[in-house]
Amino acid sequence: MADEQHDTIDDLLAEARTFPPPEHVTRDALVTDTALYDEAAADHEGFWARRASELVSWAREWDTVCEWELPFSKWFVGGTLNVSYNCLDRHVEAGRGDKVAIHWEGEPGDTRTLTYAEMLDEVQRFANVLKGLGVERGDRVNIYLPMVPEAAVAMLACARIGAAHSVVFGGFSSQALADRIDDAEAKVLITADGGYRRGEVFPLKPAADEAIAHTPSIEHVVVVKRGGNEVAMVDGRDHWYHDLMETADPTCPAEPMDSEQLLFLLYTSGTTGKPKGIMHTSGGYLTQVTYTAKYVFDLHPDTDVFWCTADVGWVTGHSYIVYGPMSNGATQVMYEGVPNFPGNDRFWEIVEKYGVTVLYTAPTAIRTFMKWGPEEPAKHDLSSLRLLGSVGEPINPEAWMWYHQYIGGGRCPIVDTWWQTETGGIMISPLPGVTTTKPGSATFPLPGVVAEVVDDAGERVDHGGGYLTLTRPWPGMLRGIWGDPDRYRETYWSRFPDRYFAGDGAKLDADGYLWLLGRVDDVMNISGHRISTTEVESALVSHPGVAEAAVVGATDPTTGQAIIAYVITRGGADGDGVTAEQLRAHVAAEIGAIAKPKAIFITPDLPKTRSGKIMRRLLRDVAEGRTMGDTTTLADASVVEELQRRAAESPQED
Ligand code: WT7
Repeated sequence: MADEQHDTIDDLLAEARTFPPPEHVTRDALVTDTALYDEAAADHEGFWARRASELVSWAREWDTVCEWELPFSKWFVGGTLNVSYNCLDRHVEAGRGDKVAIHWEGEPGDTRTLTYAEMLDEVQRFANVLKGLGVERGDRVNIYLPMVPEAAVAMLACARIGAAHSVVFGGFSSQALADRIDDAEAKVLITADGGYRRGEVFPLKPAADEAIAHTPSIEHVVVVKRGGNEVAMVDGRDHWYHDLMETADPTCPAEPMDSEQLLFLLYTSGTTGKPKGIMHTSGGYLTQVTYTAKYVFDLHPDTDVFWCTADVGWVTGHSYIVYGPMSNGATQVMYEGVPNFPGNDRFWEIVEKYGVTVLYTAPTAIRTFMKWGPEEPAKHDLSSLRLLGSVGEPINPEAWMWYHQYIGGGRCPIVDTWWQTETGGIMISPLPGVTTTKPGSATFPLPGVVAEVVDDAGERVDHGGGYLTLTRPWPGMLRGIWGDPDRYRETYWSRFPDRYFAGDGAKLDADGYLWLLGRVDDVMNISGHRISTTEVESALVSHPGVAEAAVVGATDPTTGQAIIAYVITRGGADGDGVTAEQLRAHVAAEIGAIAKPKAIFITPDLPKTRSGKIMRRLLRDVAEGRTMGDTTTLADASVVEELQRRAAESPQED
């Protein structure tokens, strides 16, 4: 095991370039000194309590800031608030109802503008729709939508009535959706007929239909009309969104909810078996996302146009499209489609059109833009941009420099933000008016976050490589895994005593800067999305022609990692003539296109230890074209030679 992790935590790269905050940023930045850091270091809980009262509107103040019974935390205990009130009503009450909340851009080029007053109206009506369908406080509602404003409306409507949403990314398969609905026992599913992607309508309702054929908990389905594609509606169960909204009562008061009321579940991949329903609650989560959206992005709601390019189906969309920016009353862009429709300059066209000032995107997208060349952004006036953000995986220094130069025009600071579905909000990041950045480093924990790098034995490392751990509870932290407290403890709190282990390798340089080094567990990071090797293996093995499968993430210049699978087919008729292409399609059907292996090698055998454990390290070596390391623990070393021969002969991908 130690051996397997070794290459992940070696300290190999030295980056000497530094970028102090530019004068045009420090002039107006919300934070320009270390006062917040000092305040948090002096009094951790007091720091968060002050953020909670400054940034969030409470119906009732809390009695206790934090109850910490490792590994379970509760924040602002006894306090009550309504999250949708914080994101909508309070801005309207303050006279900012006409301010644009969302500039929505459809992929075909159609647009919609929603002000805060309009959002509030829509959310109240939809909250009443949900109530009318029998949704009550504490129930779960599933959301399976394209990137349309109704996704944000549905989430906020759930929050308004104290129902927890569970958003499933629209690119996931019906099987993945069914698993998540079942696990959450959701009552209502909100979906669409279809959405636009790369110039075509992709149907969602048929996938939803397939899923709910196997999910007894779903009583009603609400369908947003977007794609215009033909869909089947089941009488009494399925309802058009626009029909329900037409007759909905326009007022739905925001009732106070307990600070620890479940706000949402979001499923994420773990190292084993089925996805984990990560639980986030109300008061602490809202405090952290409001705080981080404000200070990391240096948000000036009156002048900024914020654009987070993530899908609402991921945590980035939850925290930095819906809750963080809206709680701050910001104006933002929401875009439905892909970056290369109709041309490779679509993002830059959008930045110019709306005057985007703060752009938050992912390294995999940046590397793709690099491939398309600087002439694409050069077609547009990007001078409105003043700050750039990155999230999802380590950003390579070269990608950082390209982003800085060709998108930021050399003038915009870059905030490389490290966090996870589990942390709820940003944890490690520069503050743009304070931190001198280094390309590729997420720099320092934010004020209020305490992170430490430790070695194998759990001893603190002050310089060099190790494992990233968090040592103090934070308000946005996950409250557990839905229905499985033991798995929560086991997954995050058992590797090192009294420490949350995030699953990432990290190093500290001589100046104390943190450098994230990628996952050290069996979780891959494909284009910033976490996919477990086990889940893809299970999907492959569920094909009748497959006997055994081993999956690894191999370094890939565009997607960070690429999924490479090694498959042993079954003897006899089942496995006869199974092709890699069929298996790729099978994985797409089981999990979703996102988990489709880039290459599948059909092999007679897999390298295993004598105890039968698949040696993934060796498979990664093969996949990345490296010569073999130590194979002495292998049961049969000739297997690897055979695999290498096959890898050299049959490279196959898209
Ligand atoms: C994993 C969490 C956080 C929202 C998107 C992904 C990796 C995320 C960074 C970064 C290096 C990063 C980590 C982390 N990651 N941001 N700035 N630098 N690595 O959320 O699906 O929960 O994945 O993404 O490996 O553990 P997620």
